[in-house]
Amino acid sequence: MRDDATIPHHESAAFGNPDLPPEGESNTVDDPASLTMTGPQNPVIEGQFPGQIDAPGTSRQHDGLPRGRRGVQGAEVRGDLAGELAEPRPARAGGRAGPEVLDRRRNACPTRCSRFGSMSNSSSRRVPIEAQKVDAPLTSSATFLVVTVNDDADAAATVRDTVSGIDDIIKNVGFRDLDAQLSCTVGIGSRVWPRLTSRAAPRGLHPFTAVTGATHTAPSTPGDILFHIRANRQDLTFEFERQLMDALGDAVTVVDETTGFRYFDVRDLLGFVDGTANPVGNAVADSTLIGDEDPDNAGGSYVVIQKYLHDLDTWQALTTEQQEAIIGRKKADNVELDDADTGQKSHKTLSTIVVDGVEHDILRDNMPFGSPGASEFGTYFIGYSRHLWVIEKMLERMFIGDPPGLHDRILDFSTPVMGCTFFAPSADALSALGDDPATA
Ligand code: HEM
Repeated sequence: MRDDATIPHHESAAFGNPDLPPEGESNTVDDPASLTMTGPQNPVIEGQFPGQIDAPGTSRQHDGLPRGRRGVQGAEVRGDLAGELAEPRPARAGGRAGPEVLDRRRNACPTRCSRFGSMSNSSSRRVPIEAQKVDAPLTSSATFLVVTVNDDADAAATVRDTVSGIDDIIKNVGFRDLDAQLSCTVGIGSRVWPRLTSRAAPRGLHPFTAVTGATHTAPSTPGDILFHIRANRQDLTFEFERQLMDALGDAVTVVDETTGFRYFDVRDLLGFVDGTANPVGNAVADSTLIGDEDPDNAGGSYVVIQKYLHDLDTWQALTTEQQEAIIGRKKADNVELDDADTGQKSHKTLSTIVVDGVEHDILRDNMPFGSPGASEFGTYFIGYSRHLWVIEKMLERMFIGDPPGLHDRILDFSTPVMGCTFFAPSADALSALGDDPATA
């Protein structure tokens, strides 16, 4: 039963959701009562955003239809869009764009497609996963290692040599159990970029911009290099990191090292399935890999990380229906709730970015982490994106709110303690760092 004394003070007023159940209902995952948020739907962001590095149109085409129960409702048209659409169009199904959109994306950068298609299922059985596969498999364990590069010239050279040869460490460790699917993606921050390479910096790369809302702040914290290490066995991520740190030696200072674990059916510690709306198929490369808009860095991806700590006691004092309204999905079966068009929006609605009818996806591989003995419960957010502004816009909508003031209620229970932005070069660009003319 819910204890009124533990209900956060914002709940009654700030949630402002008449659909929330009366107080006193139990908070159980298998509660049969489902919350349905009805009414006018999906917000559409108008216009362009500052910092946008190319025109929209390269991500999933958005149908402007209600987002709730995608793929279940079939053809349906929102009232205010009905006049614009000659025919009802089916709701988004599986994140796939129309054929004309996919064609344009394929033409945009052939290297992106070959990079994603280079590892067939059969080859993954006999060789380790190559470095920089941002779409590497979801694994049961992951370590996020963030370091700064020390100031001396030797430090930069050591880091350059190590990251350009990261494939060798992946092979050393990954080949010992191919089924464990060890992978590593290296991200480079803007501060250290010119020290590591003479290659032009990615056009959109800049340090993580802190976002300050009326109630919550996303801090910007130090970090030059990110190692996103994934495997199905924690001993492999451990051994990989051990060999990596041996190679890096005293060239770096560790800022943070967090090891996460897969929690039941890909749930976060708030109890919800996390990652469902990730793009699939061709849309993965389209959403994550730079194309012709920045030829020097084609095939690379922007990466943003944030480390969140949850106030689990307060979260668990909410009813299941209140939690579902905050996330925007049902807890037990993961079915999407309808978007609220006005008033308080759910996390999934605030993190949906639509520009000129095109929805811009990112690829997430969040991991729970924690230590019950230390009362630490967290989610390590990681998002890969072709356009940094997409993730920045998500953060703005979460922390400032839409409309401003109505922030993402997930933040009332989740505090970010880290925020860093990196760029993960393509595998070829990373290995070329070792021969960079600037290093000779
Ligand atoms: C405490 C940290 C966070 C938690 C626990 C969390 C959890 C979730 C959950 C449970 C979902 C619904 C299922 C899914 O589609 O994955 C979701 C959706 C999503 N989240 Fe988060 N999230 C967090 C932070 C973030 C941040 C910082 C961003 C972006 C900057 C983000 C972006 C998204 C996006 C894009 C979706 C999919 C929206 C859609 O198209 O339906 N999340 N998140």
